Amino acid sequence: MTFDRSPKIAPSILSADFANFGAEIRAVEDQGADWVHVDVMDGHFVPNITFGAVAAAAFRPHIRTVMDVHLMVARPDDWIADFARAGADVITVHPESGPHIHRTLQSIRKAGAKAGLALNPGTGLDGVQWLLDDIDLICVMSVNPGFGGQSFIPAALPRIAALRAMIGDRPIHIEVDGGVVPDNAGAIIAAGADVLVAGSAVFKGGSTAAPEVYGRNIAALRAAARSGA
Ligand code: DX5
Ligand code: ZN
Repeated sequence: MTFDRSPKIAPSILSADFANFGAEIRAVEDQGADWVHVDVMDGHFVPNITFGAVAAAAFRPHIRTVMDVHLMVARPDDWIADFARAGADVITVHPESGPHIHRTLQSIRKAGAKAGLALNPGTGLDGVQWLLDDIDLICVMSVNPGFGGQSFIPAALPRIAALRAMIGDRPIHIEVDGGVVPDNAGAIIAAGADVLVAGSAVFKGGSTAAPEVYGRNIAALRAAARSGA
């Protein structure tokens, strides 16, 4: 994975057909996705259950780009080695989900993946400055995690800008996750983000039988993103 700050579109397969992940992943990549975002939910840290490391390992051969694993689970330390073995390029964790976020981030890198820190809409930015040497990505949650299809929380924008200023020249991605649509993508990029996660906005109206709809949805996000770059 090389680092750059150009806008990237990361479809969340939370909005894909759960009976058809391989074909869905190939379809969004063929249609221009830059990364593939894998939302792991355990029914404890968030009120929803999706899939685990065995599923992630099964997705991996279908992903040519970047497997971006977003862990929304209690006790993330118990799962990092499994997701790294499954081939995750990035593993992102929430500070509220375990007792020692610094140790958790270190163990992600030690396992060979890039380390991401996810910040819920109500999480303060105070401690982030002490973690800047230990992270490769900050995921600014623009919804409360657990479900796709929620509305973007506008307070995410000044949070992105504050983090962008805090990061300075460090090679750290700012990813934004939740309610990203063409209408807000320009403002999100202008605020300083570079990775746009989008579930509903990519998958809506399309299917593996009509993948060109995914292509149009991704192109609309990318055009809007570029307008903010
Ligand atoms: C929310 C997930 C998001 C979600 C985004 O808990 O982390 O990745 O899938 O979905 P949309 O784009 O539909 O808000
Ligand atoms: Zn996510």
